[in-house]
Amino acid sequence: MMLVPGPVELHPRVLKAMSEQVISHRSERFSALLSEITEGLNWAVDGGEGSRVALLTGSGTLAVESMIYSIINPGDKVLSLEFGEFGRRMRESLEIRGAVVHTIKAAPGKTPTLDEIERTAEDFKPKYIATVHVETGTGAIVKNLEGISKIAESIGSHVLLDAVSSFGGEELRMEKWGIYAVASCSQKGLGAPPGLSFVILSRDAVKRTCETEKKPSYLDLCKSMKFLERRETPFTPAVNLMYGLAEALKLLREEGKERRWERIRRASDLLYRKAESLGYTPLPPEESRAHTIVALYPPRGLDAAKVIEELRKRGIYVAAGMGELKGKILRIGIMGYVEEHHIEKLVGELESIGRGAP
Ligand SMILES: Cc1ncc(COP(=O)(O)O)c(C=O)c1O
Repeated sequence: MMLVPGPVELHPRVLKAMSEQVISHRSERFSALLSEITEGLNWAVDGGEGSRVALLTGSGTLAVESMIYSIINPGDKVLSLEFGEFGRRMRESLEIRGAVVHTIKAAPGKTPTLDEIERTAEDFKPKYIATVHVETGTGAIVKNLEGISKIAESIGSHVLLDAVSSFGGEELRMEKWGIYAVASCSQKGLGAPPGLSFVILSRDAVKRTCETEKKPSYLDLCKSMKFLERRETPFTPAVNLMYGLAEALKLLREEGKERRWERIRRASDLLYRKAESLGYTPLPPEESRAHTIVALYPPRGLDAAKVIEELRKRGIYVAAGMGELKGKILRIGIMGYVEEHHIEKLVGELESIGRGAP
């Protein structure tokens, strides 16, 4: 049983869909497949009128870097919120693009407060505010994205979001919350195979992608937008992965996105509750706990690496901490098709591994 924070185990229907024969990406059938996927992704976060989805062949990093290279010009001021490994990577990509970056950091498990963001944004006057939604390294979520967008709007700035670990599993309403661009990928909350990623550009962001300075072709979302008008992709896409993603989106539509968010929330609430009763301590404080990733310190006297190894011997795969949290925590992904019975099984095994020192 895979309970890592992506990739997730695939639904049998998704697996079956991927075994279809390859088609040309310059065919009518391909255009229909691409439209089905881009419409599904847009629907999944209520992208709104005029928004567009660039589908990319490559993992989540490609989507985040395409978003950065296609929207930001060297010299643009960007306020970067950094509260873990993926925020750090995003900040680094911004710097490599040549942005003038000011960073607000938060301790592991926490996220910058709205007050801090507001004060810094008013002083620094960034053109963009860039943040991760769910920080995979710590299991922390930015709860008030709408509040951050309002701050951005008040100074003529825009929010760029890395939603790699939240898309499909956490509530995300792009148009209502005023998010300018969202980058994510296939292998986590959407329950599709790894290898595809995408950027959803709001109506305003669509225009901006063709105004930025030179960027590498593979990161150029302006090019993707032009090809999208004729329902094509600029480069050879991973068609069989697209079959899988289309089927995963069908499953999401059948379940309903709100019901999916609710199922993930119920499963993670159950895990937080039961793990705490076994002596585990969630890394994030209650107000910044994500549902798609649960990060836990083991009880005193139990070693995190040992717990992970014991679970692996019992056929359950969870992830270790990253960076300075390596060896200190375990991270459990609640994404795709995970339900409460999976959590009951995990908790049963945690119980059998023990409660640590009395
Ligand atoms: C929040 C976040 N951003 C970006 C990435 C990079 O995604 P990928 O490994 O698919 O390139 C990850 C990967 O886990 C992630 O969790």
